[in-house]
Amino acid sequence: MNTTFLQACRGEKTEYTPVWMMRQAGRYLPEYQKVRGGISFLDLCKTPDLCVEVTLQPVNRLNMDAAILFSDILIPMEAMGAGLEFNEGRGPVFHQTIRDQAGLDRLIVPDPEASMGFVMETIRLLRRELKVPLIGFAGAPFTCATYLIEGGSSKTFWETKKMMFTQPGLFHGLMEKITLCTLAYLQAQARAGAQALQIFDSWAGILAPCDFEEFALPYVQRIIAGLKDTKLPLIYFANNGATLLDLAVLSGADVLGIDWRINIREAIRRVGPRAIQGNLDPFALLLPAPELRARIKRLLDAAADAHGYIFNLGHGIHQFTPPDQAKCAVDAVHELSGR
Ligand code: CP3
Repeated sequence: MNTTFLQACRGEKTEYTPVWMMRQAGRYLPEYQKVRGGISFLDLCKTPDLCVEVTLQPVNRLNMDAAILFSDILIPMEAMGAGLEFNEGRGPVFHQTIRDQAGLDRLIVPDPEASMGFVMETIRLLRRELKVPLIGFAGAPFTCATYLIEGGSSKTFWETKKMMFTQPGLFHGLMEKITLCTLAYLQAQARAGAQALQIFDSWAGILAPCDFEEFALPYVQRIIAGLKDTKLPLIYFANNGATLLDLAVLSGADVLGIDWRINIREAIRRVGPRAIQGNLDPFALLLPAPELRARIKRLLDAAADAHGYIFNLGHGIHQFTPPDQAKCAVDAVHELSGR
């Protein structure tokens, strides 16, 4: 087992800088497209053998130092009883949006083994195959709540903010229920064999710091506190979160994910004795190879003082990225950091 990634999460010295990429399994890989050609995304998520296959694709092709479970942050929302569909082109759609008390009352806090056993099965199967650590994950309650309230993706988050500001009790009630579900789900992933856990807060960046502190952060803190006895490295990624980083540190996470909108030297100053993950603009993968390498060199140099650094993109890899460019980046990280 190559544990470089886990050592970096714990702030230990590593032989070289470990690398993986958010959304590393997915549509930019022709081998993923091939699997998806025969099955819907949701059915794929519920078929452990195929989830194992697509989880391994980027690890094998690109030589990643960690694998991330193939699933989606919205799977537990479906298990809570919100009918979910993935539409080609439109992304996720929830049939019943949660906008009143009756809707909230209809949501259940599911038993993760009973309702999402396929995820735990995928983790158990992956652990037999993998020679690098396996990252489990969930969405942060705030990000999950936006999908339930809006009924899918959104540009303005009108309904979410309307509920926050006009029905705060209802909003907190929804966050409470999602938090219970998410904690139980991540504990089940840990029992099944996940070796690190990441919480994705993709939409945290739409919040004012004071609202992040009141409506989002306390629930992340509760999940992280509830996972401490797993002893696994816990990663919190608040997308578009440069202005929230000082608060994100209070989440209790061992590793803070950062996007590309912040200078990594500043991020290192602000996170204290915690590890950092990320920072390369996903579109920088389009740079010609020599410029890509030079940018990666600058990033690695700047990260030299971090209390643990895991190379990653600042958000998910874009679906039209040429796989060879991603490979070029991974190889550059390894070579330039001494592997
Ligand atoms: O490789 C990995 O990172 C593991 C798998 C993974 C997926 N989604 C697979 C996926 C992970 C970790 C996620 C997280 C996720 N899902 C997030 C948080 C990260 C982020 O990007 O901010 C969010 C917000 C979602 C919700 C979601 N899932 C949306 C909005 C969409 C549609 C938009 C899109 O990119 O298509 C998805 C679909 C999805 N999740 C795909 C994959 C590979 C594409 C599905 C397909 O094959 O058509």
